[in-house]
Amino acid sequence: MSPDQPSPLVENILELKQQRNAVILVHNYQRPEVQAIADFLGDSLGLSRQAERTEAEVIVFCGVHFMAETAAILCPDRLVLLPDAEAGCPMADMITAEKLRELKARHPGVPVVAYVNTSAEVKAESDICCTSANAAQVVASLADAEEVIFIPDQYLGAWTEAHSDKRFIPWPGYCHVHVAIRPEHIERLKADHPHAVVLCHPECTPAVTDIADEVLSTSGMVKFARASDAPEYIVATETGILDRLRKENPDKRFYAATERAICPDMKKITLEKVLWSLEELQYEVRVPPEIRERALHAVQRMITITG
Ligand code: 13P
Ligand code: SF4
Repeated sequence: MSPDQPSPLVENILELKQQRNAVILVHNYQRPEVQAIADFLGDSLGLSRQAERTEAEVIVFCGVHFMAETAAILCPDRLVLLPDAEAGCPMADMITAEKLRELKARHPGVPVVAYVNTSAEVKAESDICCTSANAAQVVASLADAEEVIFIPDQYLGAWTEAHSDKRFIPWPGYCHVHVAIRPEHIERLKADHPHAVVLCHPECTPAVTDIADEVLSTSGMVKFARASDAPEYIVATETGILDRLRKENPDKRFYAATERAICPDMKKITLEKVLWSLEELQYEVRVPPEIRERALHAVQRMITITG
């Protein structure tokens, strides 16, 4: 078998994908072999847009639960599958609909901006969603508001607040993968590669975003590296994105801020599980209609504003 020839496992996936009329959506943090079978590879915003546009009957979502759930909110007539039912996002679990209702009761009339890394129940209690790619634009769209409740990521919140004219009421959520990236990691690499461009995800702490050259969503990093002439980059986010960056830019060098920035939930999806998911049509991600309708309002409003 030549290195370019698909393995029997991949061949089976592609065959079954056709039989099932399925599309495979893959997040930038997935394992390289899973990225390789993507019909679309992207960040949370790009994947939501693709889900909304697809004509396929089945969406196999290689990412974490809130991403598949967002696809199910946007496409109630499609079968949305998550190949591992346990692939969640610990940050999304840091706020519940009940806790959000309590917070709203303490700040009546203040609009709620929910990062897409939230459950459908939480989105249903929110006014508008955002992703790391569009948070500042979403907040700016709330022209009449002087204050916003921003949930659940305190660090995306802090970064967005610094680029806004509004006062933020934050929630103390965080991503355990991104908070483990420390400024010392970047400073050490900078000593060896002084001209490297530092790309950083806004889920990182302010100590890291402050010393970054660019603060971007995962697909924002892909676009930046493609367009830039710089030969070297230090990348402060989950390491899965480095596979894509290196593959697409073989003449440029990419260094992970720390090789330990690995999201165990993202890595739960394997090729074997994707095949099994297509065979058994498991695990279906569904949102009850009364929650879906309210959550859709918040997701759709974001998509309408950011195009
Ligand atoms: P992106 O939308 O930038 O891909 O980020 C999603 C995520 O979960 C980051 O940890
Ligand atoms: Fe959630 Fe962090 Fe994993 Fe993204 S990297 S899915 S925010 S735990």
